[in-house]
Amino acid sequence: MSFRIIGTGSSLPSRVVTNDDLSTFLDTSDEWISQRVGISERRICTTESVAQLAHKAAKAALEMGGITPLELDMIICATISADYLAPSLACTVQQSIGANCPAMDINAACSGFIYALDTAAGFFARGFKKIMVLGAERLSKLIDWNDRSTAVIFGDGAGAMVLEAGDAYLSSKLQAKGNSDVLSIPQPIGHSVYYENEMPQPYIFMNGQETYKFAVNAMCADIIDVVKLAGLELDDISWVIPHQANARIIDTSAKRLGIAPERCLKNIDRTGNTSAASIPILCDELFRSGKLNDGDYIAMSSFGAGLTSAACVVRY
Ligand code: ACO
Repeated sequence: MSFRIIGTGSSLPSRVVTNDDLSTFLDTSDEWISQRVGISERRICTTESVAQLAHKAAKAALEMGGITPLELDMIICATISADYLAPSLACTVQQSIGANCPAMDINAACSGFIYALDTAAGFFARGFKKIMVLGAERLSKLIDWNDRSTAVIFGDGAGAMVLEAGDAYLSSKLQAKGNSDVLSIPQPIGHSVYYENEMPQPYIFMNGQETYKFAVNAMCADIIDVVKLAGLELDDISWVIPHQANARIIDTSAKRLGIAPERCLKNIDRTGNTSAASIPILCDELFRSGKLNDGDYIAMSSFGAGLTSAACVVRY
């Protein structure tokens, strides 16, 4: 027994930050960011907490799914930027929506949402009936706003899915190659009076070119593998939902795989890279677009710090 998706929801902070806004305090330009990363604007939290974004996404997914919070058997949230280290963001959402079920967070960086879907599949195999999976991030608090190489890339947002026991989760692949040299975010500095060594700043560090190479290779290999595992051909896939890290990574991978650009979806121009939230936010746009037909096959693919990567195929 696996699952099918019965509801999706998403939420973005209200503050739009354009490339021109960033150029007022960073040595960058709309032209550089648009061409190298494919972002025009992103949403950045001002007063919103990540829990508030996750709450709104969760409520919208419940509404589309037509179920009450009390019907949920589990809440799993993928995040690297929860408001608290403890309690988990999933527990905060559980309380705020009024659910009564186990709840936990998963950290697989930008691959977290697909890791969370696959974790949910394990609970469905145990007999769970309804599970909510979220991806929610407030990356703006982890950015060094003086570092133009990372500050222009990321955004804040949350997405959610309500899953019901079913047979539409057809295949998956999870990978991790332990490596903190390419992408990392140190924990906030502690205050122990006994520490003698200098603590790293708690900001996103990224080796852009190594990330780029890893991402394209992982995305291509993972999509080929999950499509095959599902007993399908690439031509059978109606929609690819890639992690929105960089438009060039998505376009290069789609070209290498021979997937038409209109089937490989993007919203990074408006959202930036929202890490674990990017796939559920884009899924929510697709589910509400009216473009989906019964039986459509959707491939999701993500990659991120770890280095992790993950992909899956679901049927609509
Ligand atoms: N504005 C203007 N110039 C910039 C900026 C900026 N925001 N950032 C860097 N530059 C400059 C650099 O200083 C460098 O200048 P120099 O030639 O004078 O030294 C020049 O641009 C080229 O820098 P590179 O790092 O070589 O640029 P590159 O073409 O590799 O593009 C980028 C950088 C966009 C980060 C690219 O490497 C990339 O897309 N990598 C993938 C990273 C990614 O997708 N990360 C997502 C986050 S991680 C995740 O989600 C898994």
